[in-house]
Amino acid sequence: MRIVLLGAPGSGKGTQAARLKEALGVIHVSTGDLLRAQVAAGTELGRAAKAVMEAGQLVSDEIVLGMLEARLREADAAGGFILDGYPRNVAQAGALDALLARIGQPLDQAVQLDVDESLLFDRLAGRAAAEGRKDDNPETVRQRLSVYAAQTAPVIDFYAARGALKRVDGVGTVDEVLARILAALGVAVA
Ligand code: AP5
Repeated sequence: MRIVLLGAPGSGKGTQAARLKEALGVIHVSTGDLLRAQVAAGTELGRAAKAVMEAGQLVSDEIVLGMLEARLREADAAGGFILDGYPRNVAQAGALDALLARIGQPLDQAVQLDVDESLLFDRLAGRAAAEGRKDDNPETVRQRLSVYAAQTAPVIDFYAARGALKRVDGVGTVDEVLARILAALGVAVA
């Protein structure tokens, strides 16, 4: 199965993707994690991305697409994948269609996790305290939410317009949200 997980910062994309990959037997590809790995390794790409990420802005489409294509061309992606954090704007959604056509792996479904903004702040404040992620401070979270509303929210309509979108309530326990996603995907749980 090939899925895009959509949702605002803190909506639970990473948390659910980690569980879904076990349930579906596919890989989890997070562009945020790929970028953070480049930053941690101090590569040229990571040095270019670091300040942009810490400001809560989007890294350039070209950099992210190149990184994503390299990952999806690895052998373990052949069995399917969950994309978390991509596409982030309508241009990336179009680029993803073209990439998936190039590698012969068309998308099955996009899943949108809906969570109220006040709860997003609470969750990211909790993660800031627990993990110290640099872009989880309140000011940068506000910026990330504003970028999401302006650039990423239109991606929801992009998939809805082609009848490939499932909307899922992302509020509840991790298990409850996981069960809703699997039900939306029509996956029977043992
Ligand atoms: P990225 O890493 O993608 O960050 P994000 O979209 O802001 O997502 P988050 O990781 O904050 O949230 P999430 O929805 O995954 O929630 P999570 O499960 O972690 O991107 C970071 C940056 O990289 C971007 O700002 C940008 O600069 C750059 N970037 C990445 N992709 C890009 C792209 N395609 N183009 C350009 N730039 C790009 O959960 C959050 C917290 O909530 C956790 O503490 C978790 O434990 C908790 N939680 C989760 N679910 C629940 C629940 N059900 N109940 C209670 N708590 C919960």
